[in-house]
Amino acid sequence: MISLNIGILPVFLTIIGIGLTCLLLVASELGKRARMSVPGRIALMGALGFGVIAFSLKTGIILYLDSLSHEQMVAAHAPAPTPPPLPPATHEALPSPAKSWPVWRALPATAPAPANNPQSAAKITLGKALFFDTDLSADRTLSCASCHRLAEGGDYNSAVSSGIDNQKGNRNAPSVINAAFLSRLFWDGRAPSLEAQARGPLVNPVEMGMPSLAAVTSRVRAKPAYARAFRRVFGSGPVTISRITKAIAAYERTLITPQSPYDRFVAGERDALSPQQLRGMALFQEMGCRNCHLDPTFSSAGLVKPFGTYRTFPVFPDNKFVRKYDLLVGGEAQTWRVPSLRNVAVTGPYFHNGAVNELEEAIRVMAVSQLQKRLSDERADDMAITVVREPGARPGLRLTVTRNRAMSGQDIKDIAAFLRSLTSPVIAAR
Ligand code: HEC
Ligand code: HEC
Repeated sequence: MISLNIGILPVFLTIIGIGLTCLLLVASELGKRARMSVPGRIALMGALGFGVIAFSLKTGIILYLDSLSHEQMVAAHAPAPTPPPLPPATHEALPSPAKSWPVWRALPATAPAPANNPQSAAKITLGKALFFDTDLSADRTLSCASCHRLAEGGDYNSAVSSGIDNQKGNRNAPSVINAAFLSRLFWDGRAPSLEAQARGPLVNPVEMGMPSLAAVTSRVRAKPAYARAFRRVFGSGPVTISRITKAIAAYERTLITPQSPYDRFVAGERDALSPQQLRGMALFQEMGCRNCHLDPTFSSAGLVKPFGTYRTFPVFPDNKFVRKYDLLVGGEAQTWRVPSLRNVAVTGPYFHNGAVNELEEAIRVMAVSQLQKRLSDERADDMAITVVREPGARPGLRLTVTRNRAMSGQDIKDIAAFLRSLTSPVIAAR
């Protein structure tokens, strides 16, 4: 429709003007032809003029009303102002977690190494010797490998490991295998790198129990074979704790297990996962496990897809598992670095205190304590709501809503089957 709101007055006046001019011409002509008297002609002009003016007024009013209703219609159906053109829809434009989130990824074939500690064959050989050397412990009985048994998944297969003099620690030993892909190490994530981490156990009194890092360095210097190896790797200069831990870390960066069935599946081998494992993979995503255990490390502290590092455990502590397995620390839920689930089927017992022996049970603990699920074979579409009041400087309220809460025995088995696809065939064979 054409807009009529502007220029209505000139049109109106022009119509009246043309009308009146025609009227005058017609009336005088008619008057002449009919030989009318002057008063008669004026009366005729008046009568016709009234009609023309009334017609012009009507036309003007109709046009005016039409323009009004048009404007109102325009206002009611006004399209939104034209938005600025969208940036091209590339994934690169999104922030990194969103970018990498939906795509399942395989573990890279090599682990990233920091710029100040590049990998070399000689360094790896030296690091391996140190990793297996019991002379690095106070009573010369323990090496790193004593608690991180590589043939058994890189961890220690009892709740807590035993240090020198058979002392017990209070934490389960996590695996060293694939630790090279994590941005934070230890259950509480206190070490930012493998180099920093390695200093810990050497001088931990309930682990290798050396009195100081200087004492460790003296032990290494005392062995002539090491002197040659260190010179070959690091050049001249003395053996230092920094060089020792760099070599150990370089070796640990080779302790990786890509090529698990999961990785082969992601790389395109359709038959690498069984139908049950694929269902478990789908549940792992759908139930929310993947919100914290993100591929390819199945930790949120992965170097490949960093995703937040720490999470509270247990998020919903009021359940029988938390009581049975004593999963609080000093009666409180803690913030933990999310552990990797690579090779998890062979790295039990589970959790920071190693209290849970069976993988299926660990999954039940997670489902109830982290995701507010209800263990039941009956599929009910129910809903749990938790209200958490946030005190402090910015008081507020958080709602956690979980729908479709039932998680069946079959669901648990399927997820366990999927987690077994994260076991390296190399370890499984041993
Ligand atoms: C006495 C047993 C014991 C010995 C010996 C030992 N560790 Fe550990 N290791 C543990 C325990 C227990 C933890 C977890 C401690 C914690 O989180 O507080 C751990 C954690 C680790 C981690 C972190 C893994 C992760 O996912 O966070 C790495 C890496 C590691 N150890 C490497 C080593 C190296 C290298 C040595 C030798 C220098 C060594 N360990 C010696 C028991 C041991
Ligand atoms: C909100 C974050 C979160 C969610 C969701 C979550 N986890 Fe965990 N998971 C953790 C944390 C944190 C730990 C370490 C807890 C501890 O030991 O104190 C953990 C530990 C585990 C462990 C034990 C690992 C080990 O080496 O001891 C398994 C197995 C596991 N999770 C599987 C799952 C499964 C399966 C799901 C889904 C049903 C799931 N998780 C959901 C955060 C989460």
